[in-house]
Amino acid sequence: MKIISPAYSYDKQKVKYTANRQTEPTIARLINNALGNAKTVLNVGAGTGSYEPTDRNVTAVEPSEVMRAQRPTENVPAIAAYADNLPFEDNSFDASMAILTIHHWPDIKKGLLELKRVTKNTVVIMTFDPETVGRFWLADYCPEMVKVDNARFPEIDLITNTLGGKSKVVPVPIPKDCIDGFNEAFYARPEAFLEESVRRSQSFWDFLPREAEDKAVSLLKADLDSGKWDKLYGSHRDQSEFHGALRIVVSQK
Ligand SMILES: C[S@@+](CC[C@H](N)C(=O)[O-])C[C@H]1O[C@@H](n2cnc3c(N)ncnc32)[C@H](O)[C@@H]1O
Repeated sequence: MKIISPAYSYDKQKVKYTANRQTEPTIARLINNALGNAKTVLNVGAGTGSYEPTDRNVTAVEPSEVMRAQRPTENVPAIAAYADNLPFEDNSFDASMAILTIHHWPDIKKGLLELKRVTKNTVVIMTFDPETVGRFWLADYCPEMVKVDNARFPEIDLITNTLGGKSKVVPVPIPKDCIDGFNEAFYARPEAFLEESVRRSQSFWDFLPREAEDKAVSLLKADLDSGKWDKLYGSHRDQSEFHGALRIVVSQK
């Protein structure tokens, strides 16, 4: 399969990110715990400010103008910069965080080394484990999703080896009513994928040829209409949480 473009641009997105992507409180608690007792925190690829702690001194870095403009006024304004060239001195922050962003970085290793350089103690990364992305039922409708995500998400070992130090990998359970609309968030709400605005808030679709997306959506719609989806995967509707590919990697220097 041909992956359409090497990069995804949040500046070209017409859909308001926060319409479908908000801070999920259960995930925010895990991130907050991972940050430990850090007083100063750098958030790289900060987007619209989801998961940014409110009780610490935060510095945010976000290259997309469109994303920076959507940050609520209670969040600090984000600095326009890229992960692989952070405009800070060594050891400037107690902790740093990069949430659902590293797969967008053109040089992931360089970006991770930059995070390590500017951080005194703890680096927190939230990402998807490419080895398990295929567990989600959506892969049966859109096998291309697995190919795209395998190509984009780095292996967890690459992250821990690059950051070095003592690392911990925490699987993140996704609640049934998750309000951060990445793809696994809708494991119990398959009808959501029929909505264009939901898909446009999930970057992997934009790496597929439009025909592959249309095919996945019409197969899913047909199975929902006929009851086949519920026969095959309906138990997900009652599952209070989903253990998919979402991971938090915590590295202590
Ligand atoms: C899926 S959003 C996540 C935003 C936010 N961290 C969150 O959890 O809601 C990915 C973000 O990574 C940013 N990004 C893309 N390339 C980047 C780079 N090279 N360095 C830093 N951030 C980047 C995008 O602009 C976008 O805001």
